Amino acid sequence: MLRSMIDGGPVPAGARVLDSRNPADLDDVVAQVVLADPATVTAAARSAHAAQRAWADVPAPVRGQVVANIGALVEANAEALARLVTREIGKPLAEARGEVQEIVDTCRFFLGEGRRLYGQTVPSEMPDKQLFTFREPVGTAMIITAGNFPVAVPSWYLVPALLCGNTVVWKPALYAAAAADALYQLFVRAGLPAGVLNLVHADGPETFTGLSHALDEGLVQKVGFTGSTEVGRAIGELCGRHLQSPCLELGGKNPMVVTEDADLDLAVEGALFAGFGTAGQRCTSLGTAIVHESVHGEFLRRFAAATEAAAVGDPTRDVLYGPLLDERFAASYEKYLGWITGGQRVLGATGRITADNPRAGFVGDPATGLFYHPVIVDGVRPGDDIFDHETFGPLVGVTSYGALDEAIELANAPGYGLSSAIYTTDPKKAFAFRRGIGAGMVSVNNSTSGAEAHLPFGGNGRSGNGSRQSGMWVLDQFTRWQALNWDYSGRLQKAQLEVAVVPADLDFRL
Ligand code: UN1
Repeated sequence: MLRSMIDGGPVPAGARVLDSRNPADLDDVVAQVVLADPATVTAAARSAHAAQRAWADVPAPVRGQVVANIGALVEANAEALARLVTREIGKPLAEARGEVQEIVDTCRFFLGEGRRLYGQTVPSEMPDKQLFTFREPVGTAMIITAGNFPVAVPSWYLVPALLCGNTVVWKPALYAAAAADALYQLFVRAGLPAGVLNLVHADGPETFTGLSHALDEGLVQKVGFTGSTEVGRAIGELCGRHLQSPCLELGGKNPMVVTEDADLDLAVEGALFAGFGTAGQRCTSLGTAIVHESVHGEFLRRFAAATEAAAVGDPTRDVLYGPLLDERFAASYEKYLGWITGGQRVLGATGRITADNPRAGFVGDPATGLFYHPVIVDGVRPGDDIFDHETFGPLVGVTSYGALDEAIELANAPGYGLSSAIYTTDPKKAFAFRRGIGAGMVSVNNSTSGAEAHLPFGGNGRSGNGSRQSGMWVLDQFTRWQALNWDYSGRLQKAQLEVAVVPADLDFRL
């Protein structure tokens, strides 16, 4: 039975218990989770708040040593953690191993940051005075994460937040509770004092209420959220009332433009991985392929053939993708399939893979889990639900364009702005796309998904509020700049009023 962990210990039994099931084998209950109520969420924030000052007093290089320990422990437990991720959310094992590696990479980046965390010395406009800047931790962070990357994406928040001297309450996705508990165990064994990292298992509405109370009490200074645009909006509103700006990583409708001069096989490879890898359940998954009209037919033919040949099934074997994450995601994906209209052309079968709706070459037994056909929908246009909204799951829209300006307009039309890609051999088109696209991330001749762990990650518009994670950029989420000026002249020197005037002849002309 998994429990929330506050101040280093388990929270006593709660009223509600939930099963976390293996989506590839629904009879396999991976964990039973005791759900916390709003008061428990607030209590976790209280514990984190109480532990924060002492944690911030630990020298940053020593906190960096804890991060190094986390990385070493994750690496030593990598295979077990990857297997647990695959069992709990159905991601192919190779991808789960990559996800665990992303935590190690994040730790390797931030362990050194403990010895940097630079401030600046800045020249003063007056003598005998020095100016400095210091990075200060923001305080306590409430981190609410999705389960499609149940351990890597949380580490993008937890590792820098802790390194910078913040304390954390982490609320993971309930359907990924076992992976979250495993990661929590690795973090605390790396040497975190009690209360510095707290774990709460709670559902969305209860978390929101508990967070709202914690904000009212002044216990939380930063919220990090990865999930839907709709929930992100609600969290943004709540934080705004407390004059806080959260770190929001929301949905995507990520476009891939394929120009007339593109290497089509490369573009198809990218579309297949970005569209159907992880069963299309990354926030960076491909939404719509926007293909030049002169190569549209050929691209579609090759993309459909590659999709038909792809291995789907048991995620412990060599497949492109496994099941959907959880029953809830299967239900919403079925709703998205209902958005397909008569004017669009569907390539291949749609819906759940069953004995009556089979997929040739399926790996394993589809009856055991939440397996769905990969769907390509050609002819999507602005105004169509499938074109305008994220369709989290194995569904890719295709449309065509004439001039590059039109392609960029189509790419921006849904109003998201997370990831994007262009396949072209023409540098002019690549740079025109980079300039015109509203996305936070742009790939040239690479898929929309699969960002490296140390480049700024984040989106604009319906994909987020412009906050960025990863690398040095995330430091601005978890620290605030404090400016210090120190006057050792022994008198009051007034800025702007007592600055030396340099004589100059500004009327001089050659
Ligand atoms: C997400 O789906 O929330 O760039 C993150 C990628 C991964 C991260 C995806 N490294 O596709």
